[in-house]
Amino acid sequence: MKKVVIASSNAGKLREIARILEPLGLDAQPQGHFGVPECPEPHVTFIENCIAKARHASAHTGLPALADDSGLCVDALNGAPGVYSARYAGDPRSDARNNHKLVEALRGEANRKAHYYCVMVYVRYPDDPQPLIGEGRWHGEIIDSPRGDGGFGYDPYFLVPEFGKTGAELDMDSKNRLSHRGQALRELAGKLQNLGI
Ligand code: IMP
Repeated sequence: MKKVVIASSNAGKLREIARILEPLGLDAQPQGHFGVPECPEPHVTFIENCIAKARHASAHTGLPALADDSGLCVDALNGAPGVYSARYAGDPRSDARNNHKLVEALRGEANRKAHYYCVMVYVRYPDDPQPLIGEGRWHGEIIDSPRGDGGFGYDPYFLVPEFGKTGAELDMDSKNRLSHRGQALRELAGKLQNLGI
């Protein structure tokens, strides 16, 4: 098995990524195992931050690296909170305060359309000129009152109209099948497989 360092310390994400990479002969190892320090994310686009994280993890370990970046983009807010999704309401980071700020920002707004976005980047080495990229978008609408107690982040306010359920009301398997992260990961895995990486 070829080792790949994963530029994330979220246990749920790591499990999801490891499960998809394993059949490709890739052994996903969290960057925490190698003492990789946190990477700055100074950019205004998901893709730039994601490439920075993958390069950083590869540079610190000498291994190929996979990074992900994701967030919520709301149409009526010109794509906000976007790359600032985790820290929309400032520090300390809080889902409750982020959700409150989102609902307030959309008060009286008729256009409730939003999507979660995720990008995943794989680099073979830090200065890889051809990073492999997978993307996913999960479309929904922002509602005013929370529903459900699963998921995390903005999920209780993110209604998926086809299912009449919020992200927090869907079971884990359904969410993984539909979500921006699942889509991005499958697209990236397909590219890794096609190139025989
Ligand atoms: P990160 O990519 O884990 O840093 O996620 C950035 C932020 O986007 C999270 O802290 C959440 O606020 C939001 N986010 C990303 N994906 C999801 C999701 O699947 N459900 C709810 N919130 C999400």
